[in-house]
Amino acid sequence: MKKIAVFVLCMITCFLSKTFAEPITLQSPDKQLQLKFELRDGIPYYSLDRAGKPVVLPSKMGFTLEWRDDLAHAFVLKDKAFSSFDETWEPVWGEEAQIRNHYNELLVTLEQPVGSIESADGSTKKKATVMQIRFRLYDDGLGFRYEFPMENALVYFWVKEELTEFAMTGDHTAWWIPGDYDTQEYNFTESKLSEIRGLYEDAHKGCGWPWKNFSPTGVQTALQMKTADGLYINIHEAAVLDYPTTNLDLDDKNFVFRTWLCPDATGYKGRLQAPCHTPWRSVMVCTKATDVLASRLILNLNDPCVLDDVSWIHPVKYMGVWWEMISDKNCWSYTNDFPSVKLGETDYTKSTPHGRHAANNENVRRYIDFAAANGFDALLIEGWNIGWEDWYGKEKDFVFDFLTPYPDFDLPTLNKYAHEKGIRLIMHHESSSSTINYERWLEKAYTLMNEYGYDAVKSGYVGKILPHGEGHYSQPLINHYHYCITEAAKHHIMVNAHEAVRPTGLCRTWPNMIGNESAMGTEFRGRIKPGHTTILPFTRLQGGPMDYTPGIFETDMSKNAEWNKELMRHTICNQLGLYVTFYSPLQMASDFPEHYEPFMDAFQFIKDVAVDWEKSLYLEAEPGAYIVTARKPKISTLNKAAEGVATLPDGKKDMLSNAARFVYALPENATAADLKNATPHDVWYVGGITDENAREISVKLDFLKPGVTYDAVIYTDAKDADGIPGDSYNPQAYTITKQKVTSKSVLKVKMARCGGFAISLRSK
Ligand code: NOJ
Ligand code: CA
Repeated sequence: MKKIAVFVLCMITCFLSKTFAEPITLQSPDKQLQLKFELRDGIPYYSLDRAGKPVVLPSKMGFTLEWRDDLAHAFVLKDKAFSSFDETWEPVWGEEAQIRNHYNELLVTLEQPVGSIESADGSTKKKATVMQIRFRLYDDGLGFRYEFPMENALVYFWVKEELTEFAMTGDHTAWWIPGDYDTQEYNFTESKLSEIRGLYEDAHKGCGWPWKNFSPTGVQTALQMKTADGLYINIHEAAVLDYPTTNLDLDDKNFVFRTWLCPDATGYKGRLQAPCHTPWRSVMVCTKATDVLASRLILNLNDPCVLDDVSWIHPVKYMGVWWEMISDKNCWSYTNDFPSVKLGETDYTKSTPHGRHAANNENVRRYIDFAAANGFDALLIEGWNIGWEDWYGKEKDFVFDFLTPYPDFDLPTLNKYAHEKGIRLIMHHESSSSTINYERWLEKAYTLMNEYGYDAVKSGYVGKILPHGEGHYSQPLINHYHYCITEAAKHHIMVNAHEAVRPTGLCRTWPNMIGNESAMGTEFRGRIKPGHTTILPFTRLQGGPMDYTPGIFETDMSKNAEWNKELMRHTICNQLGLYVTFYSPLQMASDFPEHYEPFMDAFQFIKDVAVDWEKSLYLEAEPGAYIVTARKPKISTLNKAAEGVATLPDGKKDMLSNAARFVYALPENATAADLKNATPHDVWYVGGITDENAREISVKLDFLKPGVTYDAVIYTDAKDADGIPGDSYNPQAYTITKQKVTSKSVLKVKMARCGGFAISLRSK
């Protein structure tokens, strides 16, 4: 009986595959990219060409499943449908005010032979297994995903492996981090694909904890590559929801990547329920590195915003009671009395403070004063809540309640003090990766934030995930992160999650996701390799902004904690350049006020720079080497900030940022009221950063309005500046020059090793 069924299936397959023997092709709107889809003996394959040359060789598609026939063979083509789409949409915040979403689409419907499924009433019905593949081809790349309609023999199914391949044409250069189920906090390695295996152990050094690799040729996405003939190829994914994150596993003999999903605690790589679809798999193809930075492929593959009211969402420039703990000058905890803390039982009022608790009333007030005096929007305070005495590495379930402040942190009073000065406090929720505990308290914690007018939270996922056995990027965790975002939106709260999964463009759909870490950030101090921040915009930032926390002016860590002999590898001007080259609507000035005070003339750039953009131009770039970017601020955002955005329940509503003062050419003591009679000037900011090589760059100002004179303030590394520890290490040397420029001017700037520059340009 079984044999007959297989024979009949083969006959159907042969007949239908003969009918559709020719590959189906789809072209990008500019006709440069061409996608081919075909069934070879019932197995789905796709390939991608650019200008007639292969970019992705024929690559397999499909799945292996538990208990069911694999979705890997015996397919017949039932239907193909072509369509086109062209729209321009406006992000709530972003690198430009308008984004074009223009693609051609192909939807193929594949079927496996008719099987029987049990209906709800117990009867059995004959149904085919249906899998659709939706391809979207843009001028700058391809997106495709698998879709499973309801009318299907497959309704509930468990994925063992996703088989999607990306077959490369050769031994490309890649900027990669090791594949992992738990951390993305790695330095990048630049190497040929064939060298990955040999470099794997080294690539691992100094990464975040916990980590879990799966293969000596496993890498993470977004993976940036460059071919021998100069094509930039970037493999990533978009809109990861209710499905695990993918890594890639490389067959390094044939240069074929296979999708490698993060398993859940039971080993499955996805439990699906039709109707459903996978995230988009993406292959970006650009002829210039700067085009990779300008690509909006990942955002475009995500769904439009689902929030009706976004008036409460706003970009934020902030400071923090934070670097004190990261640099070990002070602590998150309050006392040394408790080796074990039990929420609801441990009585802090009876404990002896150890005297190094940074989030104390006096210190917090000092930061509020400095942030307010310099036109910041907000202040993050970590270590405000009880539980930090035993939070780390204990795999503790009931670790924090996110509600109870330490005895020396007077939440209502500090909050009122901040609001009176036009500063919002940013909440901190370190979950210690006990996601069950965080969900237990989430509603109360967000309600507390609403009560006091906090509108942004930094959450964190340090340590091993609870429930035990889950990794940071499995399907249940993806669902947890998403739950926090959607619940936060109901409370009008913006979220910046650290150690959560790296973003995949979901901020288009939920723009209250204003930040994420999910890569090696400034907190790794001296461990960060030169050139790191010239790679992140090509990789990690493709999915959404990163809370990189730049702005460290004091690079000698022993000044903060004697034991720490690390010297950070950057100059002050490199840090200034990051505020332009590194896009984020949430930008921090992360050093201490006392480290800025000796350099207030350089700090002026951090005060003046905006965080939300009308337009961005990527002037020059090469991953792992350097980036030069120019950006024009979005005036509506500056006005919005001045209006106080949402209500501060107590105190004033004057939230005028210093960037607004700069753009409107108002004095530093100007208030929101002064904006009413003022006109914005035409303003641009330019930033540059370099790796361990010093460079000279010519910045052509031809993007300025012709015939208009601008005041330029140019912050450059001094002649003897050097960001690499050694005899010539001199990271704090800079020069500031002022000159008049026009669209015909070309500015020559020198960047020191690990250096950079920043320029503000304001029309007269
Ligand atoms: C790691 C985060 O990246 C860092 O910013 C934070 O301060 C600590 N966890 C504590 O939550
Ligand atoms: Ca981190």
